[in-house]
Amino acid sequence: MAKNISYDDLTNLLKEAHEKFKNENSGANADYIPYLAGIDSSLFGIALVLPDGRTIETGDTQYRFGIESVSKVLTAALIIEEYGAQEVLKRIGADATGLPFNSIMAILLEKDHPSTPLVNAGAITACSMVKPTGDSDAKWKTIMDFFTRMCGSAPQLIDELYKSESATNFNNKSIAWLLKNYGRIYDDPDMALDLYTRQCSLGVTTLQLAAAAATIALDGTNPLTKKAVLKPEHTAPLTSLIATVGFYERTGDWLYTSGIPAKSGVGGGILAVMPGSFGLAAFSPRLDESGNSVRAQKAVRYIINKLGLNVFKDTALTVK
Ligand code: DON
Repeated sequence: MAKNISYDDLTNLLKEAHEKFKNENSGANADYIPYLAGIDSSLFGIALVLPDGRTIETGDTQYRFGIESVSKVLTAALIIEEYGAQEVLKRIGADATGLPFNSIMAILLEKDHPSTPLVNAGAITACSMVKPTGDSDAKWKTIMDFFTRMCGSAPQLIDELYKSESATNFNNKSIAWLLKNYGRIYDDPDMALDLYTRQCSLGVTTLQLAAAAATIALDGTNPLTKKAVLKPEHTAPLTSLIATVGFYERTGDWLYTSGIPAKSGVGGGILAVMPGSFGLAAFSPRLDESGNSVRAQKAVRYIINKLGLNVFKDTALTVK
């Protein structure tokens, strides 16, 4: 049954969520990447993009933060566009690992494929698959052009974050070379790792993430630019990846309580997809022990529960 709500009431709901959780101070900034540890942890933004291009923003929605693992969704979309959903399933997979995002154990357990492009191993493999093979600058251009179309405007590399990540990504170096050992890297492993590290270091606004979420929710057409970015048949496989592993080892708890497929990043961002209705994003730096933003997850869950939507029951919202 389709729910109806006015634009003003939906705007008020976002404001209400912001108000309700802005003083929620549990959790802590990611500290394993020095740049992230230093971000002002009071920042908090929520943004929503509707099918007709109307937007709703509350809080610090224009602040550029590190996209981090949310970038994995966009690269997964890119390789699904380049190779097709079936080939991505074959080369990477679509299963949850049930283990932390940077788990080496997960690769050892499933050495015939990295499991999903939404954990570090699969995302590094995904970067190795981006075309054209063998040319880092050209691959980076492909990634940037695609991210720009998904977000409706260009993300910007946060140079300090890139340097900070590159200087501390020893675990990811092991992952890249372990994947090479299992024949699961389709280009130079160091190049693939560098592209992954760079894409994680892109600065995006909450509104840009909401636009990317809306593009996935709305058959692959970005409502802000009105341009087709994804083939309509690719949005469901992509959303299924988000639903399966978007919150890592806490994904089941998240889906069970929120009813919306969403992907988090250690920069504090969350991208959430309500198929057919809208894209929603939230950002705040303090994370829980699994690396998911505390305020952003509370805000997204509150909004979706209040709307009475659930991807397993009712996804249709009509905004007058
Ligand atoms: O691979 C890493 O360590 C980071 N650059 C990205 C991790 C991340 O965002 C995990 N998500 N919650």
